Amino acid sequence: MLVLGLETSCDETGVALYDSERGLLADALFSQIDLHRIYGGVVPELASRDHIKRMLPLIEQVLADAHCKAEAIQGIAYTAGPGLVGALLVGASCAQALAFAWGIPSIGVHHMEGHLLAPMLEETPPQFPFIALLVSGGHTQLVRVDGIGHYRLLGESIDDAAGEAFDKTAKLMGLRYPGGPEIARLAEQGKPGRFVLPKPMTDRPGLQFSFSGLKTATLTAWQKCNAAGDDSEQTRADLAHAFQTAVVETLTIKCQRALEQEGLQNLVIAGGVSANQALRQALQRMLEKRGGQVFYARPEFCTDNGAMIAYAGCQRLLAGQSEGDAIQVRARWPLEELAPL
Ligand code: KG4
Ligand code: ZN
Repeated sequence: MLVLGLETSCDETGVALYDSERGLLADALFSQIDLHRIYGGVVPELASRDHIKRMLPLIEQVLADAHCKAEAIQGIAYTAGPGLVGALLVGASCAQALAFAWGIPSIGVHHMEGHLLAPMLEETPPQFPFIALLVSGGHTQLVRVDGIGHYRLLGESIDDAAGEAFDKTAKLMGLRYPGGPEIARLAEQGKPGRFVLPKPMTDRPGLQFSFSGLKTATLTAWQKCNAAGDDSEQTRADLAHAFQTAVVETLTIKCQRALEQEGLQNLVIAGGVSANQALRQALQRMLEKRGGQVFYARPEFCTDNGAMIAYAGCQRLLAGQSEGDAIQVRARWPLEELAPL
């Protein structure tokens, strides 16, 4: 089955063509980062308007790249939530209009299910069951995955998401948006051990996360240095290193706990923060000791993209699921509400 996937939940317009027999045929992305950067974060109205401009040219581009005619498309998948409602509505309206015009089924995909299944597009995909650590700009969740749609939430952040903590901390330290890649790049030059920041909620049992205190601790340390006349690039790098280390160690401890609790060996990490090299290496070390394996997508499929939506939608369409003609999106949408396959 040949499926067109559309992603517009936030600040990336993603389009892809996935075929259940031949795999991923083409994918294209337009990132709005430059548009939002001067505001230090995503401006929802600007995001929606830009998705409208980019969508049809990107669809034409993937069709051309895949040497494929529109008539060959057998289903359309679009991100139906969670995300920015205006942005989601662009993808949903476009998908529903095309599905109606072409007389083919459509399916609204959960953005985090898309992320969770993105490693399935790689050469060695994970086998069910596994633990998934979903770490994006809006979510930090540990999920037990027994199959597509068989999700049990084990723990999540009670305040900021991991990516949000990277972005906010970067902003406080005067770095550019999005903060994750900026902090990761700076941290490489940082001296380990100069600053030690707390690993939130690791000293008590459970699988919940909290990152807002860590953000404040980083800000306090930065302000103290500034007050003493030190706002050097090296100090910024040392602090970025300490912040990243605290996040990585916290996530690693909770992943290990989740694997032990559920008696599982395999871990999937997904979402923008799963592109972080220090996190990948720390999880790999932890899993080598346990005799397990960590799976993740190629870096461009860790952040938002159309390929993950085309893949997830294709699985659901193949199982006979589809939407009616209504255009419906959800700003919030618990993963556990999804229908199992
Ligand atoms: O999944 P994603 O593209 O969008 C959402 O669904 O939110 O994730 C974006 C988040 C941002 O917070 C960004 O700063 C973070 O992922 N991110 C990273 C890295 N690359 C992106 N965080 C840490 N290290 C990275 N290399
Ligand atoms: Zn995302």
